Amino acid sequence: HPQNSQMEESCVLKPLECRAKGGAPGFKVAILGAAGGIGQPLAMLMKMNPLVSVLHLYDVVNAPGVTADISHMDTGAVVRGFLGQPQLEGALTGMDLVVIPAGVPRKPGMTRDDLFNINAGIVRTLCEGIAKCCPNAIVNLISNPVNSTVPIAAEVFKKAGTYDPKRLLGVTMLDVVRANTFVAEVLGLDPREVDVPVVGGHAGVTILPLLSQVKPPCSFTKEEVEYLTKRIQDGGTEVVQAKAGAGSATLSMAYAAVKFADACLRGLRGDAGVIECAFVASEVTELPFFATKVRLGRSGAEEVYQLGPLNEYERIGLEHAKKELGESIQKGISFIKK
Ligand code: NAI
Repeated sequence: HPQNSQMEESCVLKPLECRAKGGAPGFKVAILGAAGGIGQPLAMLMKMNPLVSVLHLYDVVNAPGVTADISHMDTGAVVRGFLGQPQLEGALTGMDLVVIPAGVPRKPGMTRDDLFNINAGIVRTLCEGIAKCCPNAIVNLISNPVNSTVPIAAEVFKKAGTYDPKRLLGVTMLDVVRANTFVAEVLGLDPREVDVPVVGGHAGVTILPLLSQVKPPCSFTKEEVEYLTKRIQDGGTEVVQAKAGAGSATLSMAYAAVKFADACLRGLRGDAGVIECAFVASEVTELPFFATKVRLGRSGAEEVYQLGPLNEYERIGLEHAKKELGESIQKGISFIKK
């Protein structure tokens, strides 16, 4: 509409040449899927992170709007928006860390695996871009099913000859965040004081909280163990049902994603003792990928920790987790190999 476009134009100020400013120290971070339910609050929280100097926001829709909005926040990071496949290279070039929440979320009644057909292709395309434009970046993969999308990403990077298992991390932080919250609730503690290792993968029974290793040391009744294990495994579904068709966890996920990305950046900076759970290439079990605690350093997941002592309940849970996880991993690998 001519009047509309005139009105819009009159709102846009002519760009003014800004006084040169040396590049601020810090890391360059790209968010792929930045206009989505997770992407938007994630972009906002990243803009608030003092370790970030440049923030690239990429999506196939609405990236300019989210970018304009976020760019008005008076924090250090410089924000740039990128819209659609032709701008993917610009979004990725020079990045230190790429966070990927692109893809469709669940609706009630769906499993994470039901998202495979759509999200597998999205993750493949985005990882091809990473292999080409920023092969040394750390990748934080959020898109579900994480148990399959991480193997997909690994195969794409192998094909491109850029694969470094230390730099590819599936984000399972939300499971840890939930576990800390629910356990703290049962124990009557501040969740910030609680540390619950969650291992395995990121779907249903593959989410395995190790309640025998909770810090501070504590003990649970059999009922508490069953309640907590189930609530942590079904935490995502609890949100999907409450949102009743409007998507899955976005705000707590954005919080968890930034908590994890911040740990990766502190590792990149060279901080000592940065340890978080993540779904990575692993020799802890016979499966090629598995989530456990990892130590984050300058080159990514520099050390993958063993499971530690498990009790009988956890050993049984581990067998269930491995069975489903193995199938999801294989499905991801076959998607690229076939
Ligand atoms: P959403 O639908 O609100 O947002 C997804 C965004 O991705 C949209 O803005 C969409 O335009 C964008 N997108 C689609 N195709 C794209 C492409 N080819 N390139 C770039 N961007 C593209 O979904 P939401 O709620 O943000 O969830 C995103 C993903 O995160 C889902 O797969 C969901 O299952 C997953 N998730 C993972 C969790 C985890 O713990 N790892 C927790 C919660 C969700």
